[in-house]
Amino acid sequence: MNPTLSELEARATREKAAFGGDAHIVCDNLVRIYKTEGVEVVALQGLDLVIDKGELVAIVGASGSGKSTLLNVLSGLDVPTAGVARVAGMDLLSMNARDRLRYRRSVVGFIWQQTARNLLPYLSARENVELPMKLAGRRGGRALELLELLGVGYCADRKIPEMSGGEQQRVAIAVALANSPQLVLADEPTGELDSETSEQVFDALRKANRELGVTVVVVTHDPLVSEQVDRTVGIRDGRTSSETLRREGAEGQIVAEEYAVLDRVGRLQLPRDFMNALEMERRVRLELESDHIGVWPAREEPSDD
Ligand SMILES: Nc1ncnc2c1ncn2[C@@H]1O[C@H](COP(=O)(O)OP(=O)(O)OP(=O)(O)O)[C@@H](O)[C@H]1O
Ligand SMILES: [Mg+2]
Repeated sequence: MNPTLSELEARATREKAAFGGDAHIVCDNLVRIYKTEGVEVVALQGLDLVIDKGELVAIVGASGSGKSTLLNVLSGLDVPTAGVARVAGMDLLSMNARDRLRYRRSVVGFIWQQTARNLLPYLSARENVELPMKLAGRRGGRALELLELLGVGYCADRKIPEMSGGEQQRVAIAVALANSPQLVLADEPTGELDSETSEQVFDALRKANRELGVTVVVVTHDPLVSEQVDRTVGIRDGRTSSETLRREGAEGQIVAEEYAVLDRVGRLQLPRDFMNALEMERRVRLELESDHIGVWPAREEPSDD
């Protein structure tokens, strides 16, 4: 007997849900192609990424590797060309305009690198935080509490130009948190700041993550920031290429382990310096051992001992 339409739909939903399961953020084979004046730029070329609820993840990668494109997709500002992008169970490709607006107002918060872009200069810090609450039809009672949590309660009644860059970015985080989002995205939030101020801003993001339980994804060039998160995801040419996981070792020291990302059809990217060191190109020879896979340059035979 042929399956009914609803059985087929249920099966499609199951299969679609398989990758990443019910993780908080799931990108599966995400593609974003920009077309400008007849030229196509493939900014994301089949990116896979799974992030669990409550994680604090740093995204690193060379300029042009697709970091901002990914964040714009996750923030609901941009729609990918193909693939799957799901946040908190919501499908970012098929979402209608009304759901997208609701998503951007109350599911996700966003912080730009340019401090000036995050805040309205003629409002006070407190009014900036209250604004998104009012737009979502809520009362602004929590604004001062949020500013205090992020260490900028003393700026509540100052206008934006009366604050330092670091204070402004911390107020921007409070604005992003105004409607209790599940996810906060920050695109190089410390890019315009010196290292000491950067640290305060990053501390504020960490506080939001630890104390409010918000999932935080932060793009950064700052090696100090990427050392302070549990997981760093490297992006290369529009794909996730490596992950660094940090955990506490037996003596309390922090151990960082680097992994290559394996996609579901078995592709992985070798680090470029590894390939260069062994002059690997075009093809490599693989050998399955009992507990690992050996990878050799194609031309040379491995030594026998
Ligand atoms: N609106 C656009 N129109 C056309 N091409 C774009 C657009 N936005 C980004 N691109 C291209 O897509 C690729 C990825 O850009 P993206 O901004 O995501 O990189 P990035 O990793 O954020 O870089 P950076 O570290 O410099 O901010 C680049 O080749 C870029 O030129
Ligand atoms: Mg960018």
